[in-house]
Amino acid sequence: MSTLVRVCSVDDVPPESAIPVEVPRNGSRLELAIVHSNGVFYAIYDECSHAQIPLSEGDVGEGEIECYLHGSRFDLRTGEPIGLPATEPVPIYRCLVEGNDVLVDVSAPLDPTAAPTYAQEF
Ligand code: FES
Repeated sequence: MSTLVRVCSVDDVPPESAIPVEVPRNGSRLELAIVHSNGVFYAIYDECSHAQIPLSEGDVGEGEIECYLHGSRFDLRTGEPIGLPATEPVPIYRCLVEGNDVLVDVSAPLDPTAAPTYAQEF
């Protein structure tokens, strides 16, 4: 079941940048990086898979986000690492834009091998 939550406004995330957000979920809080790259909004778990570093503080460009500590890059469409030292993917979540609102389905991470419903053109 989809659980769409408004996480921020479109204007909160300038092009080629990311912001951290915390979303209530199942009695705890889910930490996400909301990323705006190449005109698309993405939601990715805000922790590098190599160590506990927030990806929202990394560099964004060309549909990728780079961890600032050791430089692993992650594909925002799939969460898969593109460069070492990270070898494990980071969970991604379905992200939609409605009007000026950015919404995320926090019910469960996406299956990166499924149809590309990860984001919406903006
Ligand atoms: S902590 Fe992110 S690449 Fe090492």
